[in-house]
Amino acid sequence: MSLTTFRTSGADRAGKDAAPLERGPSPKVTVPSLLDKKLSRQPIAVVTAYDYASARLVDEVGLDVILVGDSLAMVMQGHENTLSVTMDEMLLYTRGVRRAVRRALVVSDMPFGSYQVDEREGVANALRFVKEAGAEAVKIEGGRQRTDLVRRIVGAEVPVMGHLGLTPQSVHRMGGYKVQGKTLAAMEELRADALALEDSGCFAIVLEGVPRELARMITEELRIPTIGIGAGPDCDGQVLVLHDMMTMTFSAPAKFVRRYADVGAVMREALGEYKRDVETRQFPSDAESYHLSKELRERMESLAGRAG
Ligand code: KIV
Repeated sequence: MSLTTFRTSGADRAGKDAAPLERGPSPKVTVPSLLDKKLSRQPIAVVTAYDYASARLVDEVGLDVILVGDSLAMVMQGHENTLSVTMDEMLLYTRGVRRAVRRALVVSDMPFGSYQVDEREGVANALRFVKEAGAEAVKIEGGRQRTDLVRRIVGAEVPVMGHLGLTPQSVHRMGGYKVQGKTLAAMEELRADALALEDSGCFAIVLEGVPRELARMITEELRIPTIGIGAGPDCDGQVLVLHDMMTMTFSAPAKFVRRYADVGAVMREALGEYKRDVETRQFPSDAESYHLSKELRERMESLAGRAG
C-alpha cells in the first residue's frame, strides 16, 4: 500500500478491496514547516483527535496538527478532569490516530504524572510516544519549572510543544479552570515562562485561557509559533477540542468555543430513526439481506418439502 492510499474499513469488512483513497498533494507538516508558517504569517490550524476515524477526517481536510490531547480523559472517557488518564491509555489512542494520518503533525499530550516525578522518567515516557505510538512530538504543561526537562527531551530528539496559561493538569492548584495572567505580575510570569520555554527548545507553545492582549504580546515576542485556545485571534495558530466544536459534549461550552456543527443532534436523530426502524421491522429490508443462489434456494425448498 502506498503512503497516499487506504482501504476503506467498510469494504474490508465485506471482504472486498475498496478503491484507494488518494490524499491531496500538500506536503507533510513538520516541525520546521510550522516554524516557516510563523515566519510567513500563515495561521496554523490545530484540532484534537483521539481515534482513527476522526483523525482520518481531520487529516483529509488538511489541518496542520492533530493533538492527541489528554482532554480525551473528559470527552472520550467521561472523567471530570484530565488527571487520571495514563501513559498506556494515551499510547493506545495515539496509535489509532497515527494509523489514520498521512499529512498532519501528530502531537501527543504527556499525561499528568508521566513527567512531573523526575526527568529521566519524563524523557523515557516521551520516547515511548515516538517509539511505541508513532507520535512526532509531545506536549508538556508548565513554564520555567519544565525547562530542564524540555532540554533533555529535545536532546533525545523528541520535539516538545509547551503549554502555558490555563494548564488543566494544574486544576487543583488553580482552584478550577480559570483565565490566567490577569494581573501585571501574572502577565510578567507568563511572559518569562514563554521565553524560557522557547529558549529551552520548544517548537511551539499552546496559550490557553489568557487575555488576548497578553497572548498577542507573547506571540510578537517569540520566534516559535503560539497556538491559542481561549487566547484571542492574534496567536500564530488556534486549537479547539474536536468534541467541543462538533457539539459532542453535554454541558454549556466555554466562551471561546465556536460550534461548527451539531454532530450530537445528527447522531441523536439517526439513532432514533434506527431504533424506530428496528422496532417496526423496517430494518433491514430484503435488499439489505444476503441471499442463497436460485439453485440452492430451490434445493433447500425441495428438502424442506420432503421433510414436511
Ligand atoms: O488536552 C487538550 O486537548 C489540550 C488542548 C486543549 C490544547 O491540551
